[in-house]
Amino acid sequence: MQTFHTDLLCIGAGLAGERVAIEAAAAGFDVICLSLVPARRSHSSAAQGGMQAALGNCAMGEGDCPDVHFEDTVKGSDWGCDQEVARLFVDSAPVAMRQLAAWGVPWNRVVPGKSTYFKGGKLFEKEEKKDKEGLITARAFGGTAKWRTCYTSDGTGHTVLYTMDNRAVQLGVDVHDKTEVLSLIHDGENCLGAVARCLKTGALRAYLARATLIATGGFGRIYRESTNAVINDGGGLIIALDTGLVPLGNMEAVQFHPTGIVPTDILVTEGCRGDGGTLLDKDMHRFMPDYEPEKAELASRDVVSRWMTHHMRQGKGVPSPYGDHLWLDIRHLGAQHLATKLREVDEICKNFLGIDPLESPIPVRPTQHYSMGGVRTNKDGAAYGLKGLFSAGEAACWDMHGFNRLGGNSLAETVVAGMIVGAKMVEFLQGHQVSYPTNVVADAAKLQQERIQRLIARSDGSENVYMVRNAMFDALMQGAGIFRNGSDLQMCLDTLQEVHQRARQIGLRSNGLGANPELAMALRLPGMVRLALCVAYGALQRTESRGSHAREDYPERNDRDWLVRTLATWQPDSELPTLNYEPASQVWHIPPGERGYGGGKIISADSKKQ
Ligand code: FUM
Repeated sequence: MQTFHTDLLCIGAGLAGERVAIEAAAAGFDVICLSLVPARRSHSSAAQGGMQAALGNCAMGEGDCPDVHFEDTVKGSDWGCDQEVARLFVDSAPVAMRQLAAWGVPWNRVVPGKSTYFKGGKLFEKEEKKDKEGLITARAFGGTAKWRTCYTSDGTGHTVLYTMDNRAVQLGVDVHDKTEVLSLIHDGENCLGAVARCLKTGALRAYLARATLIATGGFGRIYRESTNAVINDGGGLIIALDTGLVPLGNMEAVQFHPTGIVPTDILVTEGCRGDGGTLLDKDMHRFMPDYEPEKAELASRDVVSRWMTHHMRQGKGVPSPYGDHLWLDIRHLGAQHLATKLREVDEICKNFLGIDPLESPIPVRPTQHYSMGGVRTNKDGAAYGLKGLFSAGEAACWDMHGFNRLGGNSLAETVVAGMIVGAKMVEFLQGHQVSYPTNVVADAAKLQQERIQRLIARSDGSENVYMVRNAMFDALMQGAGIFRNGSDLQMCLDTLQEVHQRARQIGLRSNGLGANPELAMALRLPGMVRLALCVAYGALQRTESRGSHAREDYPERNDRDWLVRTLATWQPDSELPTLNYEPASQVWHIPPGERGYGGGKIISADSKKQ
């Protein structure tokens, strides 16, 4: 077996992984990034609308500062976030944006003078100041008091990732792409690297590293309808969970974005609504102000997605062969606006829907988009449970998002966390020596070799990998979607436990070791089902509604009993995760209160138990 030695192993070469890699490479350490795809094809490149940072340059951002950003983030999280981490993030975000500018990101900039903008379908005027000319500008996003989302048209992820990758290449970061990680190597106390598989040849490799980072993004692909790329299958979370030592945080906190297009689930950015787009029902009625008079389409995502679903349940959805949907209307924004600020949306509509968004509204409905849950880390990005293991970006539960992430706070998190966690990893590497016991490495590789051989040999296995995956999709879509309740969640959990058994009986129709997507899926699926079980079990146990976790049978947010973060671990041979809880935050700069949108009753932290 081929063995590689490095100082830092980054599992994932998207924005978070590469930003950490850059920090370590700049400090003189050897870095290898592993990636399923070439770095520039990572899912970060699909991010459209932008990154939040309180620069306060544009007219509608005047008076913004990290304090206001902090308040928006905490409210957005429904008081589920770690406030120390959220504070660290908002204070560092402006620095990270300016650094990206220096590295070459072509941010949209302030153009002085009078201009018009749409809010809720109506036209307003604003005046950009002369002394702000050429500074990084921003657009409106949901749940924010100010225009704060810095952007490059609607291709922000693309431009930032290309810039980041250029920097990584300049610093000699080595990316091994078309490589999937199968397990972490550890001795029960220290993480020593990972066992990986070359997706072209099927050969196993050992990567031995003094420090390991998990930055594999989200796990949206456990849901059938997701804006996530097919590579977002939770691979990094699975290898952490499978250690039995490293907990995943808040797996029940799953975000649905209001505007995935129907039927392909591709995202059209929140920037459409930020720039003045509206949501219409089958009668072409703009319904969001009926539910949220103040923020309307620009309440936080959990709120908008819930009202959209509620509205469709009232029979107001537009029937289609692919199920009901609503309309996103950006026709009034005009050709010039689309050509400069919503170019990708324009192309997506033309190429995937065959419509011109200037002529016709866009069919949309809430679609799984983001995983607030992930590898639980401390504020330095160090994972709980194993020394030398870190995580950053969507794969991590750092946890600045709590139960609902604000749009624009995740792309920003990748680079801010990458910068902060990268610096902490450098400190760690400076003082950390490790040895790699031969038997530990050999045993870890043997386990994976045997798994693969068992699968290949079981060509007469009774279960088809794609049918089993579809059963997982069905269970989650029915039981652990936008609205949840005890009986549906219990049914979902029971089904997923059966699916977990079935996932161990998979037989392959093909027996190639390399370039074999069926084998790759068969290797990944049991772990994906375990992630799904963490989602469903955490959601069943959490008898309250908070952010994206909306229980019809427990509609109140219950700060008295549930101001906590769920920690899920998986013991070997068990059928369900073990759940533990820790306080959501150690510091309360903003004590739990009303969000100001989204309604809902609150059981306060200091109310007495009946
Ligand atoms: O709508 C969007 O552009 C997505 C942004 C985000 O998820 O932060």
